[in-house]
Amino acid sequence: MNVLVTGGAGFIGSNFVRFALTAHPDWRVTTLDKLTYAGRLENLKGVIDDPRHEFVKGDVADPAVARPLVTAADIVVHFAAETHVDRSIMNAGEFITTDVFGTFVLLEAAREAPRLRKFVQISTDEVYGSIPEGSSKETDELRPRNPYSASKAGADRLAYSYWATYQVPVVITRASNNYGPQQFPEKVIPLFITNALDDRQVPLYGDGLNVRDWLHVSDNCRALDLVIDAGTPGEVYNVGGGNHVKNVDLTRRILQLLGKPDSLIRPVADRQGHDRRYSVDTTKLHALGWKPRVAFEQGLADTVSWYQQNEWWWRPIKEGDAAFQAYYTTQYGDRRG
Ligand code: NAD
Ligand code: TYD
Repeated sequence: MNVLVTGGAGFIGSNFVRFALTAHPDWRVTTLDKLTYAGRLENLKGVIDDPRHEFVKGDVADPAVARPLVTAADIVVHFAAETHVDRSIMNAGEFITTDVFGTFVLLEAAREAPRLRKFVQISTDEVYGSIPEGSSKETDELRPRNPYSASKAGADRLAYSYWATYQVPVVITRASNNYGPQQFPEKVIPLFITNALDDRQVPLYGDGLNVRDWLHVSDNCRALDLVIDAGTPGEVYNVGGGNHVKNVDLTRRILQLLGKPDSLIRPVADRQGHDRRYSVDTTKLHALGWKPRVAFEQGLADTVSWYQQNEWWWRPIKEGDAAFQAYYTTQYGDRRG
């Protein structure tokens, strides 16, 4: 089985590549990744030289690179995207180019791919927009409210249209916020852990009462594996951890795990258009036989430990990467509460 993983040098993609090579001795995995600021070969440490793995540096939006890889694939798992909401608010262009146009390029190739059995479009719970109470079902209206979630919603529906129109065997997953090892330290959990480790303040947006449903990345990998095997083409599957936590409570837990004081919390101006709450109804995926295994308290403690033990991984980003520092200054430099 030839499995093409786009964005496999990023957070979830690299966890999935490692998972897939371990769980499926008969799979050959090709990672296609542009290695943007968020993509790192370090994430594939230990699997990059596996004889069953091939790494291709390239852009999903470039048909010359993407098309032959899709043509050779039995399965495509399409993670590659620009993923950070705050960056999309600063500059949405790359989100359109990669998340929407890049998905179009892959889908066009998929129309002609002779062996293709599944095209897994990695969407997000953010396409539903903010849900003040209850949980979003797969059939609910999409109301994305920021350029990231809007570009993901575009890709999600474009992928669906290639099933409805051309019978490309598309399945779509909409996962909630993932956490775990190797998440780029711009996202809230790794940013706050790594700042606090250095006794730096953690910038909490707005009133800190926004809610996210945290899903351990290993549980998402298991969900994807199941959807590849048993998902029905044309269908959407929500994936959620069932751990609805207010940002302020998350922040306090992280500080507590590190033995750091709450005084490190710096309330800062809210994100523009900040979605208040996400929550997904996962009944459909449960019916296929999936449920999350990682309890949030344990998963968060393990994640904190991972960042404590793997400074080699994140310190070069936070201290040695001029682009990251420029981003941090623009995003947080003179941001006041
Ligand atoms: P990430 O930012 O850590 O990784 C993205 C990867 O895509 C990087 O390796 C990057 O180099 C690569 N990439 C970007 N543009 C590319 C291009 N044009 N061509 C090829 N590769 C390119 O992201 P992540 O958190 O691992 O998210 C992966 C996917 O999961 C995304 O589609 C995201 O929308 C979705 N998702 C993420 C979450 C989450 O909580 N992180 C939740 C739900 C869905
Ligand atoms: P983030 O990790 O960016 O994920 P998303 O926006 O995709 O949910 O943010 C998670 C939550 O944490 C979100 O409500 C915004 C908040 N947040 C902060 O309060 N401070 C920060 O510095 C960041 C990056 C996020």
